[in-house]
Amino acid sequence: MSNVPDENARTHAARIDARADHLRLVVRDGAPALLFHWFWLRHQAPEEVHPTTRERVLDARHVALDARPRSARLEDQVLVLEWPTGTSRFPLAWLEEHAYARETTPLAPPPHDVDAIRVTATAHESLASLAAEALERTRRDGAVVVLGAGLDTEAIIDGFAAQGLAVRGTHFGRIEDLRTDNTSNQNTDQLGYTDAPVDLHTDQPFLEEPPRYQLLHGIRAAEDGGENLLVDAAAATRYLRGVDADAFEVLTTTTVTFHRRQRGFEKVLHAPLLRVDGAGELVQVRHSYFTFAPFREPFDRMEGFYRAYQRFARVIHEPAHQWRLLIAPGDFVLYDNHRTLHARTGFRGPRWVRGVYFDEVSR
Ligand SMILES: [Fe+2]
Repeated sequence: MSNVPDENARTHAARIDARADHLRLVVRDGAPALLFHWFWLRHQAPEEVHPTTRERVLDARHVALDARPRSARLEDQVLVLEWPTGTSRFPLAWLEEHAYARETTPLAPPPHDVDAIRVTATAHESLASLAAEALERTRRDGAVVVLGAGLDTEAIIDGFAAQGLAVRGTHFGRIEDLRTDNTSNQNTDQLGYTDAPVDLHTDQPFLEEPPRYQLLHGIRAAEDGGENLLVDAAAATRYLRGVDADAFEVLTTTTVTFHRRQRGFEKVLHAPLLRVDGAGELVQVRHSYFTFAPFREPFDRMEGFYRAYQRFARVIHEPAHQWRLLIAPGDFVLYDNHRTLHARTGFRGPRWVRGVYFDEVSR
């Protein structure tokens, strides 16, 4: 293989990055990345033509906006996409000719590498120093996972108190014992106290000032299931703005109503899902499918709102955009409840996780 033809060398320089909702194609070294929506590629599939007239037979109305191939690869100068319905082969020259989007600023998907947000307690001499690193990382990354901090929740709380955090009691109590046989908390008529899955949400979005941080401390493992999912909504919002500016606009300007009603508690609050600053950066996310009041948008805007909501949902529910982990006994997670969404898969067994909210003392 010492005699590699020029054409092949060019092929080897071409590379693709198959993202959740689009393809990123670099045709040759030094060329700007070309971006193609999967649905656009599905619509333009070369095989979707009449066998003799070569006219396109697929109308855009038949293309699902969430169309996505099972795999994508390069073969010589051809992009090969394997759809559930068949195979498409796009010559790279054709894609270059019909490219409609060149990447100007890189579009970074929300992070998913749990190793990057993990800290080991044994690297620290004290819980106070461990808490200092955990808080610094949470302020930077939106969440931290700490391994091996022990089972003493109060000692961990003291560690964060030494870093300027104060426990924030809620209508559940000072510490939430998230277990199916809970007898110590108030207002346990909510999903967190069951073994059911709880999908992505933020906590207490119905309060003017939701608790800033939540500690989730593992005490007892589940027999099966009980994984935690975290999503950096600041990164997801940035990504949403890059892939769907209209959805970003709708979700940052539409006020929704959160209505929490439990046996011994009721609260209503109006706020946007995504509050951003002048530069479009996320200031605060509020998102909780189980505390939304019925949406009340003008008739001609309701469909657009649902479309925007579902577009953001596709970003945050993409597994490649989520940190996914198990909180083992003695481990804990700290996340920024104004920035990071969290979820828990359903489980079996005596899983016991303790939840503690914190605010910055100076706030
Ligand atoms: Fe929660």
